[in-house]
Amino acid sequence: MTTALVTGANRGIGRHLALELLARGATVYAAARRPDTLDLPGAKAIALDITDPAAVAAAADLAGDVDLLVNNAGISTGATLLGDLDGVRAEMDVNFWGTLSMVRAFAPVLAANGGGAVVNVSSALSWFAYPGSGAYAVSKAANWNMSNALRLELAGQRTQVTSVHLGLADTDMTAGFDGDKLSPAVVATRVLDGVEAGDLEVVVDDWSAMVKASLAKDPREFYAQFLTA
Ligand SMILES: NC(=O)c1ccc[n+]([C@@H]2O[C@H](COP(=O)([O-])OP(=O)(O)OC[C@H]3O[C@@H](n4cnc5c(N)ncnc54)[C@H](OP(=O)(O)O)[C@@H]3O)[C@@H](O)[C@H]2O)c1
Repeated sequence: MTTALVTGANRGIGRHLALELLARGATVYAAARRPDTLDLPGAKAIALDITDPAAVAAAADLAGDVDLLVNNAGISTGATLLGDLDGVRAEMDVNFWGTLSMVRAFAPVLAANGGGAVVNVSSALSWFAYPGSGAYAVSKAANWNMSNALRLELAGQRTQVTSVHLGLADTDMTAGFDGDKLSPAVVATRVLDGVEAGDLEVVVDDWSAMVKASLAKDPREFYAQFLTA
């Protein structure tokens, strides 16, 4: 009888996570910066920009019965680390600071509801970078290790923390990229299956698994594909 809150539920992976939660019988708070863009019959709409501390606090007050917090909201601007610093900060503001502020606000709510779970939608880019992904990759690496640290800090209240890693899914975020893309519906199913199974990491696809495995090797092997002469 889960009660979930999903950030960025108006489109992409977040919308499919909300749909799948509804299909599995959960009560769902669908959070979006513009609730008028939500298309989720049966969900409870919440206006929420995760970079707005007052809105985050209001969401935690309003959704006091939540036992599953799904931090899906994210941005990918293409900002590079040596380019415009405002772009780098924007990625960190949403993908790291916004996500952390949601966990900080909802930790007492989850504790009051038996511990529950936090899901942080990270990326395969937690574990590598490619040209043009600098700020996003750094923000998702921070998001990933935030999950590891929060898992320890929330263990005392029995809150499961699950980090999600995937390559390309077919959403607005990847509209400019070619290649095989996962259906966001499939992503949602794999994520929720993993959370239900108690997985601490959901590695959604083979690409993410390969990238993770590459960390145990000499980085020259992996980065050779990008560092062409
Ligand atoms: N698509 C992929 O290939 C892929 C791969 C790995 C990881 N991911 C991650 O998966 C998550 C969902 O991505 P997606 O592909 O579904 O992207 P998307 O289609 O671009 O959707 C992003 C969602 O995040 C919301 N959002 C952005 N900034 C926000 C903020 N400050 N406060 C609240 N909501 C905000 C957006 O709301 P608005 O509509 O208001 O902009 C939108 O609902 C992200 O964390 C992303 O990094 C995606």
